[in-house]
Order: sequence, then C-alpha cells, then structure tokens
Amino acid sequence: MAKVYWCFFFLSLFFLFINSSLSCLPEHEKALLRFKSSLIKKTTISLPSMLQTWSSSTNCCGWEGVTCSVHRSSSNSSQPVIELRLFALANGYSMVNLSPLFEIKTLTRLDATDCGLQGEIPAKGLLGLSQLEHLNLSMNDLNGSIPPEIGKLSNLQFLSLASNQLTGDIPAKGFLNLSQLEHLDLSMNNLNGSIPPKIGKLSNLQSLSLDYNQLTGEIPTKGLLGLSQLKELYLSKNQLNGSIPHEIGKLSNLKLLSLASNQLTGGIPAKGLSGLTQLEHLELTNNYLNGSIPSQIYNLTKLKYLYLSKNSLSGTLSREIGNLTKLKFLTLDDNNLRGLIPSEIGKLSNLQALSLAYNGLTGEIPSSLQWLSGQKELDFLDLRDNKLSGSIPPWLADLSIQVLLLCGNMLTGVLPPSLFAQTLSIIDLSRNELEGELPKNIGNASSLNALILSNNNFNGSLPESVSNLSSLLVLDLSNNFFSGDILPAFKAAPSILSLSDNHFSSIPMSMPNASLHHLTVLELRDNDITGELPLYLAEFTSLEILNLRGNSIGGLIPASLSTLQNLFYLDLSSNQLTGEIPSELGNLPYFMQVHQNNFSPLLEYYFVNMTVEWKGNKKHVKYTKIFVVLDLSNNQLSGQIPSTLGNLTGLKSLNLSFNGLTGKIPTSLGELKHMEILSLAHNMLSGEIPQSFVKLGELTTLELSNNNLVGRIPMGGQMSSMANPDSYANNSGLCGIQIQVECEPAEAPLCLDDDEEEDETWFSWEAILLGYVVGFWIAIGSAYFVGIFDPFFRPKRSS
Ligand SMILES: *[C@@H]1O[C@H](CO)[C@@H](O)[C@H](O)[C@H]1NC(C)=O
Ligand SMILES: *[C@@H]1O[C@H](CO)[C@@H](O)[C@H](O)[C@H]1NC(C)=O
Ligand SMILES: *[C@@H]1O[C@H](CO)[C@@H](O)[C@H](O)[C@H]1NC(C)=O
Ligand SMILES: *[C@@H]1O[C@H](CO)[C@@H](O)[C@H](O)[C@H]1NC(C)=O
Ligand SMILES: *[C@@H]1O[C@H](CO)[C@@H](O)[C@H](O)[C@H]1NC(C)=O
Ligand SMILES: *[C@@H]1O[C@H](CO)[C@@H](O)[C@H](O)[C@H]1NC(C)=O
Ligand SMILES: *[C@@H]1O[C@H](CO)[C@@H](O)[C@H](O)[C@H]1NC(C)=O
Ligand SMILES: *[C@@H]1O[C@H](CO)[C@@H](O)[C@H](O)[C@H]1NC(C)=O
Ligand SMILES: *[C@@H]1O[C@H](CO)[C@@H](O)[C@H](O)[C@H]1NC(C)=O
Ligand SMILES: *[C@@H]1O[C@H](CO)[C@@H](O)[C@H](O)[C@H]1NC(C)=O
Ligand SMILES: *[C@@H]1O[C@H](CO)[C@@H](O)[C@H](O)[C@H]1NC(C)=O
Ligand SMILES: *[C@@H]1O[C@H](CO)[C@@H](O)[C@H](O)[C@H]1NC(C)=O
Repeated sequence: MAKVYWCFFFLSLFFLFINSSLSCLPEHEKALLRFKSSLIKKTTISLPSMLQTWSSSTNCCGWEGVTCSVHRSSSNSSQPVIELRLFALANGYSMVNLSPLFEIKTLTRLDATDCGLQGEIPAKGLLGLSQLEHLNLSMNDLNGSIPPEIGKLSNLQFLSLASNQLTGDIPAKGFLNLSQLEHLDLSMNNLNGSIPPKIGKLSNLQSLSLDYNQLTGEIPTKGLLGLSQLKELYLSKNQLNGSIPHEIGKLSNLKLLSLASNQLTGGIPAKGLSGLTQLEHLELTNNYLNGSIPSQIYNLTKLKYLYLSKNSLSGTLSREIGNLTKLKFLTLDDNNLRGLIPSEIGKLSNLQALSLAYNGLTGEIPSSLQWLSGQKELDFLDLRDNKLSGSIPPWLADLSIQVLLLCGNMLTGVLPPSLFAQTLSIIDLSRNELEGELPKNIGNASSLNALILSNNNFNGSLPESVSNLSSLLVLDLSNNFFSGDILPAFKAAPSILSLSDNHFSSIPMSMPNASLHHLTVLELRDNDITGELPLYLAEFTSLEILNLRGNSIGGLIPASLSTLQNLFYLDLSSNQLTGEIPSELGNLPYFMQVHQNNFSPLLEYYFVNMTVEWKGNKKHVKYTKIFVVLDLSNNQLSGQIPSTLGNLTGLKSLNLSFNGLTGKIPTSLGELKHMEILSLAHNMLSGEIPQSFVKLGELTTLELSNNNLVGRIPMGGQMSSMANPDSYANNSGLCGIQIQVECEPAEAPLCLDDDEEEDETWFSWEAILLGYVVGFWIAIGSAYFVGIFDPFFRPKRSS
C-alpha cells in the first residue's frame, strides 16, 4: 500500500512541476503561433478544435498536441518543445507553410498527418533537425521532390511522407545516412525512376512501403539483400518489370510481401519462396506471372492471405493446398488453372473468401467444402466462369456464405430450397444449365440483395413469396422459361428488375401495392405481355431504363412517361402500340441534355455487362448513361413525327421505323447533334429530307427506305457519307450523289438555298472519321455487386 501512496506523491509533484509557471521557449511559442496563423480558411468552419487551445495567453506546453521537455536548462525557466502531434487539421483549412515547425530544432517527433499542408518540403529547414526520430507528414498535399537533405536527419527511425503529391525519384544519396530508419513509407505519391539499390544500406529497416507510385525498372536484387530485418515490403501499384528475384528468399523475416499490379514476368520463384518461412501475406495479383504454382508455396504454413489473381498461372491446384490451414483469403481467379478443385480445400478451416473464378477448373463443387460448415467464417465463394459440372449442393446453405457466385459454369439440376433458408446476400447462378421452378420458400431469404438466375432453363411462375424479399435490389431472371404474372416481382420493390426473354404474360394494371420509387431498370423485353401500358409507370421516378420491346402491348403511349426525370433508355419497339407519338416526349428531361460519361449513383456499385451492337458486331461494355435511346419502331403508330423530338439533344439513337407515320420529317430533327443512329424507314413519310440533317455531325447510320420521300438528299457533314443506296430505297423520287441518281436541274438550287451554304464547309473527312463514336443496342446482361462487395478491397493499412 505504502508504495502506492508514494507513487501518488511523486505523480502530484510531477504535475505541479509541469503546471508551474514554466513556459515553453518564447521562440518556440512564436513559431507555433506563426504556423497557426498560416492557416488558410477554405470554408466558414470554425478553427480546428486542436488549435483552439493555441493562444499566447496560455503556456504553450499545455497546448493540445504540444509536448515540452521535462528537463529545463538550469539557467533558464523555459522548456523546449520536443513533440508535436498534429492531425486532421485539414477539415475546411489548408496550410501552406510548414517551415515554422521546422524551426523548432529540439523536436524529436513531428506528426502532421492530414493537416492540409501544401507546397514543397522546406529542404533548408530539415538541416538542423538532428534530434528528430519520428517524422510523419502523411496525407497532405506536399509537392515537389523529396529533398536529399532528408539525409541529415540522422536519428530518424520513422519516416512517412505517404499520400502526398511528391514527384521525382527516390533520393538514394539522401537516404544512405538514415541508418537508424525502421519504417519508411513513401507510398501514394507520384515518385518515378527506379528503386535505388542503395536502399539496401538501410539495414535496420523493418517496413518499406513504396506502393502506389510510378516506379519503373526491376526489383533491385542486391539492394534487397541488405534489408535483412525487413518484415513488410509493399511495392504494389507501380510499373516494375522483370522477374521476381529469388534472392527475395533471403529476407527471412518477411511477413508481408506485396508486389501486386506491376508488370512482373516469369514464374513465381520457387527457391526464393522456401526461405520466406514467416510469410503471412503474399500478394502477387495483377502481373504477368506464368508457370505453375510452385509447391514451395504450400510449405509456407503461416500464410493467411494468398492473392495470385490476374496472372497467367497454369497447371493444376495441388492437394497440398490443404497444408495452408491458416489461410483466410485465397484468390487464384483469372489464371489458366485446369483440373479438379482438390478436396483438401475443405481443410482450410479459417477460410473467409475463396475465389477460383475465371479459370478452366472442371469437376463438381467439391463436397469437402461441407467440412467448413462448422466454422461459420467463409462468406465469399466465387467459382464463376469455370467448367464446373454437377448440381448445386444443398449443403451450401450450411456454410455461412453471403456472396455465392457460380455463374458461367455447366451446373445442372434444380435450385435447392435450402439456399433460400439462410443469410445469403448475393446469389449469381446465371449462365448455367439449371432448370425447374423457383422454390416456394424463396421469400425466406430476407437478406437477399441480388438474385441473378439469367441464362438458364428455369420455368414455372414466380412464387407469391418473391414479394417477401424485402432487401432485394437486383432480380435478374432473364432468358429462362418463366411464365405467368410478374406481379410478385413488382411487389418486391427491387431497383433492377430484369425479366426479359421469358414467357411472362401480364403486368399488373393497377399500381402494385409497394413502393417502386427505387426501380431504376425495368427490363421486360421479349415476353408475351398483352394489354396496355399502365399509367403508373410514370410514377417510377427513378426509372432510367424501360425496355418493353418484343411484347404484344397495345393502346396508346402514355404522354406522362415524359415526366420521368432519369429515363435515358426507352424501348417500346415491336409491340402493337397505336395512336400518335405524344409530342410531350420532346420534354423527356434526361434526353434534353448532352451527357458525358455519367454513372448513376446506384448502378455505379454494380458491374453491369451490357451488350452493345455496333455495325453488326456485338460488344460488351460497362453500363454508362451516355447511350440515350428512344426506340418506338415496329408498332402501329400513326400521325406525324412531333417536331418537339428535336429538343432531345442528348439522343444517340432514334428509331421510329416500321410504323404508319405520315407527313414530313420535322426540320428540328437536325438539332439532334449527337445522334448516331436515325431510322425512319418503312413509314409513309413524304416531302423532302430536311436540309438540317447536314448538322447531324455524329451520324453513322441513317435509314429512310420505304417511304414517300422526294427531292435531293442533302450534301454536307456526315450526310455526304450516308451513301448506302439501301438506306434510301423504295421512296418516291429521291436523288443525289449518295445514290448516284442525278437530280433534275430545276431542283439543284434547292440544296444551296438560304443559310445552308456554309454547311458545306463542315464537310471534311476528318470529321467523318472522328464522328464515329459508338453505335449500340443495349441489353442489360447480369449485374454484380462487385463494387461494394469486393472482399479483396482492403483499405490502406496503418503502420
Ligand atoms: C532561455 O534559453 C533560450 C535558448 O535556449 C533563450 O533563447 C532564451 O532567451 C533563454 N531565456 C532566458 C529567460 O534566459
Ligand atoms: C506546389 O504547390 C504550390 C501550391 O499548392 C504551387 O504554388 C507550386 O507551384 C507547386 N509546385 C510544384 C513543383 O508543383
Ligand atoms: C552523411 O553523413 C556523413 C557523415 O556523418 C556526412 O559527411 C554526409 O554529409 C552525410 N550525407 C548526407 C547526404 O547527408
Ligand atoms: C520523373 O518525373 C519527372 C516529372 O515529374 C520527369 O521530369 C522525369 O523525367 C521523370 N523521370 C523518369 C525517370 O521518368
Ligand atoms: C523494364 O522497363 C525499362 C523501362 O522502364 C526497360 O528499359 C527495361 O528493358 C525493362 N526490362 C525488362 C526486363 O522488361
Ligand atoms: C513465361 O513467360 C516468359 C516470357 O515472359 C517465357 O519466356 C516463358 O517461356 C514462359 N514460361 C512458361 C512456363 O510459360
Ligand atoms: C517443406 O519443408 C520441409 C521441412 O521444413 C522440407 O523438408 C521440405 O523439403 C519442404 N518442401 C518443399 C517442397 O520445399
Ligand atoms: C503437406 O503436408 C503433407 C502431409 O502433412 C506433407 O507430406 C507435405 O510434404 C506437405 N507439403 C509441403 C509442400 O510442405
Ligand atoms: C420458409 O417459408 C415457408 C413458406 O414459404 C415457411 O413455411 C417456413 O416456415 C419458412 N422457413 C423459415 C426457416 O423461415
Ligand atoms: C458479358 O457477357 C457476355 C455474354 O453474355 C460474355 O461473353 C462476356 O464475357 C461478359 N463480359 C464480362 C466482362 O463479364
Ligand atoms: C421544343 O420544340 C418545339 C418545337 O420544335 C419548340 O417550339 C419548343 O420551344 C421547344 N422547347 C424547348 C424547351 O426547347
Ligand atoms: C503516420 O503515417 C502513417 C502512414 O505511413 C499513418 O497511417 C499513421 O496514421 C500516421 N501516424 C500518426 C500518428 O498520425
């Protein structure tokens, strides 16, 4: 007990001492106040709380983030500042001047992380800081190069300049003297040049991070040899080339080796690996490594993270994989692996994520995975795009999997009902040969976010319980044999509902009893839907894609569709719609603006594989919102083309062909400057082709055949190259150079009348070539959550 009292006594004395009238050195106080006053206010946010205590009326040794020496010089009652720990000052502020802090020569530690520091590192200021042991200037906006003077900080043990905008190369000479350095972090800058071999002189280095820069050249073999203490080596996200030196095996203390996303070639060095017995984390993703996986890797029994994705590794997966029982993450996707998945994989009882996708693996889903059902860890299983056969095992439900990706295999059989009795969040079984009906209990899967069953042979109607899927965001059942009413799916309120290519026969005529305000994509293409377009579609205010092509929908086009703020793809083609095209469609808000590459907030999180058709070839592209499309072709529409459509300047494709449209082509269509595809063929349009068409600068396809058009085909702009005779066939008297039909002399002046003359000057071959952007026809394929659900995305680690 006595000891404790004594302890209190001394502690109290200590605090008395600290709180006495002793103040920090006046010049240190001045330097700190000058630093504070260099703050530049960017918003009206009040002073960062940390700096609110910094006032000349108080002892600066008591200021937040400031530590003074407990020793004072005998002749002098003031204390030098020895540590500064500043962080997160950047909120609403930026700071241009680091120099005042460097004037405090007694500093042993300086942290100024995320402080909005700008400008270059003051080289001269570094000179006197010989006491400094710890310097952390990470997460600022420092620019310029790393000054070689950094080498004067000869007591430095920790140096982080990570996450700045530093350029130039790593100053080898400067670093030579930093023999005490244990942690060096220069990651996330714009450093270039090669890694200096002299870095090997830093013989006490335990952690070296040069990742996320633009370093080139090879990994310096000799340099590495000197780093015998190294535990962590981060070199990922650079442009390093050559092979991985087997000398790397000399770094026998290495726990973490990250060489991902470089341009490394050759094989994984077998010999080298056998020396890395302490390795827990090996990341070689996204290089050009080839050959087979060396068996030495299976000797690294401490491995927890093994990432070898996106290389060209071949051969089979060894049974010895079962030796790596500590593995948590195993990713071998996107290689050329063949053969069976060894049953030993079931021995990996700590596995949290397994990805073997995009290989050529064969056989069944190994039943040994059942062994993992006790561990409740595995939450990501990605075996997509292999050649797996057999059925979907019911016991998958006993694993704790949240994301199950088995798409693109040769799986057969029916959906085991057990799959829906548990906590799965994403199920993608698309592109297999599965069959049968959806299990009745499907509504039990209350955490299901995405159910993707497209491109299989499923049939039957949607069970009523689909409407209980309250978390559903994506329901993609396209390209199957489903039939009946789609009402249950409507009730589930997803964001993406894709039921195309089935035999569904009706959509509910009254507003479904659910909030569908989040519906973004409604794809019902190529079904057997009859009846009329329900008016409530206009209430789906988030709708971006509405595709009802290829059904038997009759009646009028509701003018109210024009109120859909976000709609950019409207395809009602190949139905039995009648009446006139509502002129209100000229007000479709999104169509009226020109769009660059614009991702919708929701869909940004999905990988959506769209099929785009350009000049007869199908392409697969990521979903973007620049493909603004209006397709009303192949219906029974009559009356004139509303001139208001000329307001839809964002349009890329307008197809009104195969209808009964009459009257003249409105001149206003010439205002659709971004249009690439225009088809008005197979109508009863009369009069001339508007001269304004020469302004359609991005036109690649024009279809006007089978109408009653007359007169000269306009020359100029892209119109001059629209020279396919089939595009103009079966009209009542078109002429022009494009179809090599000479016009009657009397008509000649027509093409050169009023203000159109200057249009001729637009014509240039360059413009024609540049005018080709992309043409398209869009069909949403399948959607994945890869963005949010990529378990391999790891936030930057902290040192
Ligand atoms: C204390 O010492 C510092 C230099 O170490 C000097 O700048 C300061 O003027 C001295 N103060 C007094 C009161 O002597
Ligand atoms: C560094 O940034 C400052 C201000 O942010 C700017 O004035 C200066 O030109 C930049 N220097 C370099 C080398 O980019
Ligand atoms: C390295 O240290 C030596 C001796 O301490 C010194 O002479 C030399 O100037 C230092 N080099 C650099 C680049 O600081
Ligand atoms: C590194 O980048 C700088 C510009 O920041 C450039 O001047 C220099 O040539 C580059 N060096 C190499 C080796 O690419
Ligand atoms: C690596 O890249 C450099 C240019 O950065 C090039 O000169 C060198 O030949 C390349 N080495 C190999 C092995 O590809
Ligand atoms: C690996 O790639 C290199 C070229 O980078 C090639 O010379 C070598 O033959 C390849 N090895 C195997 C096993 O494919
Ligand atoms: C694995 O390690 C053991 C003992 O540490 C050794 O005998 C064996 O040869 C190693 N296997 C391989 C393939 O390196
Ligand atoms: C894997 O384990 C088996 C048996 O435990 C052993 O015979 C084999 O050598 C090990 N493989 C490696 C590469 O260590
Ligand atoms: C699953 O749904 C069925 C009816 O669809 C119900 O009878 C059963 O109790 C549910 N099971 C679970 C575990 O919720
Ligand atoms: C997109 O889907 C098509 C077929 O549906 C497929 O061939 C292609 O590989 C897919 N692309 C990607 C990136 O998944
Ligand atoms: C839309 O087009 C019509 C006819 O072309 C025109 O009268 C009207 O002013 C346009 N509206 C807008 C908002 O541009
Ligand atoms: C120091 O730097 C590292 C990055 O190298 C950073 O993650 C860490 O948070 C910083 N430390 C402090 C105390 O701010």
